[in-house]
Amino acid sequence: MDLANKVIAITGAGQGLGQQMALSLAKCGANLALIDIELEGLIQTEQQCQKMGVIAKSYQANVTNEEQVVRAFGQIDADFKCLNGLINNAGIMRDGLLVKQKEGKLSAMSLEQFQSVLEVNVTGSFLCGREASKVMLKTDSKGVLINISSVARAGNIGQSNYSASKAAVAAMSVVWAKELGRYGIRSVAIAPGVVKTAMTDQIKPLAMERLLSMVPVGRLGQAEEIAATIQFALENDFITGRVLEIDGGMRM
Ligand SMILES: NC(=O)c1ccc[n+]([C@@H]2O[C@H](COP(=O)([O-])OP(=O)(O)OC[C@H]3O[C@@H](n4cnc5c(N)ncnc54)[C@H](O)[C@@H]3O)[C@@H](O)[C@H]2O)c1
Repeated sequence: MDLANKVIAITGAGQGLGQQMALSLAKCGANLALIDIELEGLIQTEQQCQKMGVIAKSYQANVTNEEQVVRAFGQIDADFKCLNGLINNAGIMRDGLLVKQKEGKLSAMSLEQFQSVLEVNVTGSFLCGREASKVMLKTDSKGVLINISSVARAGNIGQSNYSASKAAVAAMSVVWAKELGRYGIRSVAIAPGVVKTAMTDQIKPLAMERLLSMVPVGRLGQAEEIAATIQFALENDFITGRVLEIDGGMRM
């Protein structure tokens, strides 16, 4: 797919990886539908993309809220009359051990802590994937659905919730590739390693040291490196139903 004048929706576009994806795709001439729960970052991304000469519009929505997602994609359909890509990037991390016993005290991951991560990372990707596909079919747009998975999908200590969610979105990409290929829609998952953003700034120094020791290239990834992989997945029409690993060689 040639990205010039194509319409790409990105969730979680207000900061971090999503913001960088928007800027990199704007550089290629893509028009952007930017979605985030937080308006402030969204407007910043929108303005920076517009300065690059493309059409960029903001849609404030919580990806876990069906009504808000349906409304946002209905508005994207009305505004652009086509949709060529969705990047399901909005995600959260709320780490904790399944159970922990220290000095006779027992603690555990709460159901709320588990479900909140599944809600954003999995339900949010499902809802946006479903609504984006409807717009693609309705407007006869050829498109690509990209889920952002993670190296943690293999199972990382302290991440029962996050690892489960990132394995789930990788599996959904395979399902969507099989179901939607007949309509000219591809689906890809991208599994980044540890990349410097506000999300990974939450990781405690000791845990970060342990993670870095597992990365053969010996450093954190950069948001631009993930955005370059997104561009590759969008442009290469022979990629579908696969997980692209961009992690400096890290293995869990
Ligand atoms: N940073 C990393 O090292 C890394 C590694 C692997 C995968 N990822 C994944 O990449 C994606 C982006 O990560 P990041 O590091 O840029 O995170 P981030 O926390 O910097 O940004 C996440 C964005 O998602 C938005 N968001 C959160 N909940 C939302 C909701 N319910 N509805 C709409 N928007 C919502 C936030 O407002 C924010 O703008 C996530 O899915 C994350 O799991 C990140």
